[in-house]
Amino acid sequence: MRIAVGSDHAGYCLKAAIAEAVESWGYEVVDLGSNPGEMGVDYPDYARAVAQAVARGETDRGILICGTGLGVSITANKVPGIRAALCHETYTARMSRSHNNANVLCMGGWVIGVGVATDIAQVWLETPFSGVDRHQRRIDKIHALESEARHGGE
Ligand code: RB5
Repeated sequence: MRIAVGSDHAGYCLKAAIAEAVESWGYEVVDLGSNPGEMGVDYPDYARAVAQAVARGETDRGILICGTGLGVSITANKVPGIRAALCHETYTARMSRSHNNANVLCMGGWVIGVGVATDIAQVWLETPFSGVDRHQRRIDKIHALESEARHGGE
């Protein structure tokens, strides 16, 4: 499975640690920046790159990290087809896969440490979507809303 990872400067250290862990679990990591020493970069650029890689099928899933996780999750969810989940503990990480079939995980490097973030990433990568009809129906409604927005609907 290919996993795109991205962060701004505030999430860089956590992203580097998570990318290393994800690779050690046997996934292929596609690092879309930022790079060591870059400062003052803009989180929407990295969130866009990771979200588009997932939406276009270039990677199976994505992991995004900024200072709080908020900016990257808000941005990633603007890309059609993306279901980005901001998780700072393992319960919502598991549920975001099982119920929401989240395809992007967002975390905040100022919010949690490497140990907790690594557990979250592992749970999130290993948990399958339940495939239960009612959850799929709700996901379909999310994407119907995207289509309405694209076609200027209310
Ligand atoms: C960067 O200063 C910070 O605002 C950003 O990493 C993120 O927390 C935004 O949501």
